Amino acid sequence: MLLPLLLLLPLLTHHAKLVSGVSLSTNARWIVDSQTGKRVKLACVNWVSHLEPVVAEGLSKQPVDVISMKIRSMGFNCVRFTWPLLLATNDSLASTTVRQSFQRLGLMDALSGIQANNPSIIDLTLIKAFEAVVSNLGDNNIMVILDNHVTKPEWCCNNDDGNGFFGDQFFNPDLWIEGLTRMATRFKDFPNVIGMSLRNELRGPRQNPNDWYNYMQNGAEAVHSANPKVLVILSGLSFDTDLGFLKNKPVSLSFTGKLVFEMHRYSFTDTAIWSGNGVNEACGRVLNLVMESAGFLLEKGYPLFMSEFGVDMRGNNTNDDRYLNCLVGLAAELDLDFAYWTLVGDYYTRSEEFYGILDGDWREPRNPGFLQKISSLQYAFQGPGEDEYPKQHKVLFHPATGLCVHRSQPLQLGPCSQALPCVALNDKTLILRRHCLVVDDFGKRIKFGAIGRKECAKWDMISDSKMHLSAKLSDGTPVCLDVDSSTSTIVTNSCKCLGNDKNCDPSSQWFKVIDSTRRT
Ligand SMILES: *[C@@H]1O[C@H](CO)[C@@H](O)[C@H](O)[C@H]1NC(C)=O
Ligand SMILES: *[C@@H]1O[C@H](CO)[C@@H](O)[C@H](O)[C@H]1NC(C)=O
Repeated sequence: MLLPLLLLLPLLTHHAKLVSGVSLSTNARWIVDSQTGKRVKLACVNWVSHLEPVVAEGLSKQPVDVISMKIRSMGFNCVRFTWPLLLATNDSLASTTVRQSFQRLGLMDALSGIQANNPSIIDLTLIKAFEAVVSNLGDNNIMVILDNHVTKPEWCCNNDDGNGFFGDQFFNPDLWIEGLTRMATRFKDFPNVIGMSLRNELRGPRQNPNDWYNYMQNGAEAVHSANPKVLVILSGLSFDTDLGFLKNKPVSLSFTGKLVFEMHRYSFTDTAIWSGNGVNEACGRVLNLVMESAGFLLEKGYPLFMSEFGVDMRGNNTNDDRYLNCLVGLAAELDLDFAYWTLVGDYYTRSEEFYGILDGDWREPRNPGFLQKISSLQYAFQGPGEDEYPKQHKVLFHPATGLCVHRSQPLQLGPCSQALPCVALNDKTLILRRHCLVVDDFGKRIKFGAIGRKECAKWDMISDSKMHLSAKLSDGTPVCLDVDSSTSTIVTNSCKCLGNDKNCDPSSQWFKVIDSTRRT
């Protein structure tokens, strides 16, 4: 169900405040403003500039300023901006102009598009064009993370593409350190560059934790000494799905307050699990894997940046659809910093990008319902901040819509920024508006009762996904919290998809009970 745009607007402008000249640090698992100590939640989108032309995608379709404003208006406060190492280390590449780069590749249509939409960029060198995009994002109050995505300009990533791990054909560790140093130095005076992602998706037959510690620590030190302001962001092994080795041995660095880890997860990370199981079971298994391989870092006091996740926006990839609600539930519960893959509506050298936030014309969101879902992730539920509520409470989050149980009568879904605070008592009752929740029949609206009375329903999180909020009717029949899709009203229904039926979609009954410290 899609909210009318009117309801959505205040929520798009509400969060993701910032920037111009901010320096970020870490405080335990939170990324905070170094000056004020308040949380800055990274709500980023990936913008690709590492493919063969080495020019930010989309500039043949829209002026850079229009794209930046669009990013901002969709509620993002940050871009993970990709670059190939050779842009920093190969002066002959860096000094090629945008025009020459497109001519060399025979991309004449794209070239005339750039002439029409971005005439001020077309005769810049590739490195100056890259800088121009970073500056324009700054002008639009958007933070930038520089992501070294590959060495040679090309699509990423395969196990055997020679770009995967230190020592591979195109991955000389010394050249990498030199490139990182040059890039960190060059962008030292760009106030909106707040982080560097040292290398995307380490992988391949050479990967191993020993070399990972050795080289990543060296890379981190090099970046930090060239530019001590930026966050240093480290990718895991196996396409950045595995940081599990950090359980036994922490990273050792000479500086503190700047280290962030990044992780990636797509449905195709776990194809067999999503294809082979009911959605509740698949979700439960994948969430366990994510926590084991990366999520544990939060408890160890490190920020974890989910710097790539994404789905086919057309909504017809079954595994993507199964995965999305599950992952959004986790991201909201853990209140993760994130970067969606990808902003890109289409590529100069590839076809249309169906995972792209923008359509092929780079004009409008490809799927406005998706933006609603992700707007809940742009909102910071927790962490040091100015709207901190004295008491921690809970909010009931509904991943399928990206909405929360809201201040309304009857109980309905609405923006999480206006969520109804909820208290979960030890006796399993849920308290909203100083009353407990009562259930008394199928398909009925929730009622309220006096706290402590026998009629108060006792709730459990059930099913393999642990996302069904279930209580029992007075005759013992279990019911689950659900959403009436025509009215967005919270109701109870019989619990669905608890078996392992692969074709059953439980998502209307999926809720996460999320910790929040925000005054709503
Ligand atoms: C450097 O860039 C130039 C121009 O793109 C290219 O011809 C050359 O092969 C590159 N050198 C290396 C070592 O990659
Ligand atoms: C989704 O739909 C498009 C066209 O509507 C089609 O080309 C594509 O193959 C479909 N994808 C899947 C996974 O079915």
